[in-house]
Amino acid sequence: MAVFFNITISPTPKPPKPFTSSLSPPQTQISKAPQKPQQNPIFKIKGPSTLSGHISISGSKNSSLALLAATLCCSGSSLLHNVPNVSDIKAMASILTYLGAKVEAFDGNMIVNSDGVGNVEVDMEEMKKIRGGFFVIGPLVARFGEAVVDLPGGCEIGNRPVDLYLRGLSALGAVVELRDGKVRAHAANGKGLAGGRFRLDYPSVGATETLMMAASLADGITVLSNVAKEPEVVDLARFLIDSGASIEGAGSDNLVIRGKSQLHGSECVITPDRIEAGTFMLAAAITHSCISMSPIIPSRLSCLIDKLSEAGCKISQFNQHTLEVSAVPTYIGDNLKGFDIRTSPFPGFPTDLQPQAMALLTTCTGSSLVVESVFDKRMSHAISLVSFCPLIWIVRELQKLGARIRVCGSTALVFGKDEGSSLHGSRVFASDLRGGVSLVLAGLAAEGTTEINNIAHIDRGYENIDRKLQHLGVDIQRLTPVACPL
Ligand code: EPU
Repeated sequence: MAVFFNITISPTPKPPKPFTSSLSPPQTQISKAPQKPQQNPIFKIKGPSTLSGHISISGSKNSSLALLAATLCCSGSSLLHNVPNVSDIKAMASILTYLGAKVEAFDGNMIVNSDGVGNVEVDMEEMKKIRGGFFVIGPLVARFGEAVVDLPGGCEIGNRPVDLYLRGLSALGAVVELRDGKVRAHAANGKGLAGGRFRLDYPSVGATETLMMAASLADGITVLSNVAKEPEVVDLARFLIDSGASIEGAGSDNLVIRGKSQLHGSECVITPDRIEAGTFMLAAAITHSCISMSPIIPSRLSCLIDKLSEAGCKISQFNQHTLEVSAVPTYIGDNLKGFDIRTSPFPGFPTDLQPQAMALLTTCTGSSLVVESVFDKRMSHAISLVSFCPLIWIVRELQKLGARIRVCGSTALVFGKDEGSSLHGSRVFASDLRGGVSLVLAGLAAEGTTEINNIAHIDRGYENIDRKLQHLGVDIQRLTPVACPL
């Protein structure tokens, strides 16, 4: 572990609205425990399943990751409520702890105080696990003047560049170098970042979030254009504004950020995970069931709601935050109709629901086109190199379950149940978070027993998915493979 320097945080004026916790003392202190060799459990699902009942949607993983990184911008403590208990969040908590922040977790709440950060080099082991870890480069260089970060990890969804983060930070006065496989950034003037203008070539979620955090502490006004409009960007802006930042335009194409010399900690409730909610909506559809869920923000899922309605599902909104999805044959007939998807940035069809929707389409009638356009470059590249490609992988695993799908570049042609797809249980392997959960959905609809291996991928982003499915009536078990004695 390399610690480059100790940072002395000079005494700062009392923040205008500091957060002071009135809650009972935290029960868990996140610390870097020695790593035990991990058993990778498996799911066994007996299908076909019929789901019924109501489930609670957890807080958004991706909003939580961004907000946890943002606590590095804030003096004093921040309290986040409704943080999902998933392994990506634990990895992010470890990254913050390693830097010197105090992170406490209890009952879905996290308190973070980063006043003690004395290290600007991120733990490379944790960085390899999650893409969201790279976000800390913005707050670190903006508040502490320097950052050393490994290239990001996360789901194996191909070559995920970080050029927009780095060019954006340069536009804010950072010197950024790639040396020894690490990204090193420091404020060019030796003091801090300065406001600037930057246009993103692509509305990257992570680059928008990282630059928003950095600009909130830069000296002067920053204008970012062609930014991401994803709900998680809006959630982050809300948290930063509550912490004293001045940000206009979140949710639109342009952001105007007036930098402040310091931000203070604040309290925030993480919004519901739209991808988890969408996954359960697709689970109801693929099993021809009826379930309700809350809390959700329906406007964040309008694209999926439109597609499921087009397929023939009945979607009812009971109140502001409760939705029911019904695909029960008595009401909608025996078949759902296939539909085409093209993933795109918000408010388009989310790339994070593409594999789950592909599983559903194998059980619909007709053939459907699925075009992946968010991570398109890496897909065609991966195919031509015959190297790892999540689209190819997930198609191969779905094929083991009886799906009939053809892939060309970043487009898949999915043949429905009347065109050769017929799901049956088999032994499959999750290769990434969303691809992994699409196998769970296929397993719910398949005849017989489906065994899904490598479910640590699924645990990265779904809180207690097996228990939630059991609650809805699914026969799903989590098993830990027994190591073979030699
Ligand atoms: N891109 C660049 N240069 C950059 C950054 C991104 O070319 O510097 C490209 C990527 O290669 C990709 C596209 O921009 O083709 C979109 O990537 P983006 O940066 O928007 O994605 P991200 O910030 O890395 C977040 C979510 C992902 C989600 C995407 C798209 C987090 C931690 N991750 O990733 O979530 O798929 O936005 O919505 O917020 C997941 O939860 O399973 C997941 C992968």
